[in-house]
Amino acid sequence: MGLLDSYRRLFDLSGRSALVVGAGSGIGKAGAEALAAFGADVVCADLNLEAADATTAGIIGDGGAAKSAHVDIADPDSVRAAVAEPDIVLCTPAINVRKPMLSLTTDEIRRVLELNLVGTFNVMTIAGAGMAERGLGSIIVISSIRSQVVEPGQGIYAATKAGAVQMVKTLASELGPQGVRVNALAPGVVETPLTDQIKANPDWYQAYADKGALGRWAQPSEMAGAIVFLASEAASFVTGSMLVVDGGWLAMDGRFTPPLPS
Ligand SMILES: NC(=O)c1ccc[n+]([C@@H]2O[C@H](COP(=O)([O-])OP(=O)(O)OC[C@H]3O[C@@H](n4cnc5c(N)ncnc54)[C@H](O)[C@@H]3O)[C@@H](O)[C@H]2O)c1
Repeated sequence: MGLLDSYRRLFDLSGRSALVVGAGSGIGKAGAEALAAFGADVVCADLNLEAADATTAGIIGDGGAAKSAHVDIADPDSVRAAVAEPDIVLCTPAINVRKPMLSLTTDEIRRVLELNLVGTFNVMTIAGAGMAERGLGSIIVISSIRSQVVEPGQGIYAATKAGAVQMVKTLASELGPQGVRVNALAPGVVETPLTDQIKANPDWYQAYADKGALGRWAQPSEMAGAIVFLASEAASFVTGSMLVVDGGWLAMDGRFTPPLPS
């Protein structure tokens, strides 16, 4: 092997199997496509099987390897049935109920906790158990900038996104000795169905664009590089971390741009 060959292969995922939960839409769809593009054999899993099928068809149509599965991450039996023996797991599903904390109902809180925390826990632990036995694996969970900074209306969503990071750190510490890496990806604002409510309000949409250093929203495909990185040997020493892909949102407080000499 040449001096540079092992570096050239850092992102190569051929021979790897990947389970992408939430592959029917947004960041999960982009993640599934990108993992397949780098050679992984991908199971596109989603509550919405039709949407997962569409992602699978797109991958196969472009020469990649994929198949679909129906999964409800809130149901451990459903997760057990979908998790075969993946080397890579990407778990994306989450919901947000944007309401003041004083108005949130117990039912709404439970719904968000059940999907964002319990569902994510189910995927991480069921996949993680098999990976630990096999002595290999990379688990990627989607957190958010909301794990770090909030605004009115993010109470329960932000709590779950911070909770996801702490679950990532804990599982990374528990499974590290068995060779399993566990990381979080924290996106900034990404144009997906999840954020349609914001896009429908031009002031809200523009304010979010202006908040980050890049002055715009991300497309789901802009999360793909970080997902492939965390999945691959390029991240062989990366575990228990949160990779921020936010266009500079967290770097700036965004209150005011002071007048400065040019
Ligand atoms: N879009 C953003 O701006 C943004 C920003 C920060 C973080 N995130 C996070 O990224 C992740 C993905 O968000 P997105 O924007 O791609 O969302 P999305 O709504 O486009 O996609 C979520 C997918 O999850 C599936 N899903 C929902 N419930 C499920 C369940 N019980 N079991 C299996 N699949 C289920 C949906 O059918 C859908 O295909 C979420 O965790 C979200 O909190 C998104």
